[in-house]
Amino acid sequence: MPLVESHGKHIAYQTGRGGITQDRRTLVFVHGSGGSHHQWNRQRQLFQESHNVVLVDLPGHGPTACPGEKSVDRYADHLFSLIRSLPGDVFCFIGHSLGGAIIQAFALRYPHHVEALVLVGTGARLRVFPEILRGIRGRFQETVRLMSEFAFSKDAPQDLIRQGMEALLETSPAILHGDFSACDVFDIMDRVGDIHVPTLVVCGSEDRLTPPKYAHFLAESITGARREIIQGAGHMVMLERPDEFNRSVNEFLETLDQADRP
Ligand code: COA
Repeated sequence: MPLVESHGKHIAYQTGRGGITQDRRTLVFVHGSGGSHHQWNRQRQLFQESHNVVLVDLPGHGPTACPGEKSVDRYADHLFSLIRSLPGDVFCFIGHSLGGAIIQAFALRYPHHVEALVLVGTGARLRVFPEILRGIRGRFQETVRLMSEFAFSKDAPQDLIRQGMEALLETSPAILHGDFSACDVFDIMDRVGDIHVPTLVVCGSEDRLTPPKYAHFLAESITGARREIIQGAGHMVMLERPDEFNRSVNEFLETLDQADRP
């Protein structure tokens, strides 16, 4: 799997079947706090058939054995290093939670590299429960268990919640704390309206970590943004409702194709 050197660290990515070819749109997926490229498995399965798919592992996550960051802007710097290593100039970014914050920051700084954004379970401000930040340091396992329950809807299959918890436990407390600290200070509520690219905002109606109110704010602030609230889903909407999620993203990508046609 390719590793890209970036500011003394590494950012990694996986591609879909067929790698990256010049004739297809490239979708760049960015995971959330303590996540990895695995959270997009169901999206990779579908979109690799029609698009170039790039699944990012931020520094400190997945296979990258290096420290993470404590700020969204620093992660956006690494994302920039990664896309500079890819063929093509313009990309469609899909980001979840912290990943959604990173691609908003990226779009504000590098709009000419952004064809479109899909903002998933995220917001323009991401304050974190102080109990989460304290708990990661002091009672890691117990806090991860509580967070995992909070990240899914009450109706989510127990297996999915258990897998989510196991994935989070593979992240070191220091990296998870850095990710949530980055979220906690992220606030672009007064600037998000400066994003002027086609945008889809997706949120589960039962999202308790980034509630639908955050999605409404994004959709109202970004001119022309589409909003999709997936009924019954929690924060991990792309895992809980992959078919509905994929359909919504697919419809959005089709609108980009239509806009491209003369
Ligand atoms: N979009 C729209 N509105 C937002 C927002 C966003 N991204 N972020 C905050 N707000 C609103 C809040 O709803 C609140 O509005 P209100 O006064 O009308 O109720 C106001 O701005 C202030 O909220 P906030 O900045 O979050 O501070 P707080 O002290 O009220 O609450 C928490 C702090 C941590 C309790 C709260 O942010 C929360 O419940 N967060 C979600 C849980 C979490 O930890 N998520 C992890 C995110 S990665």
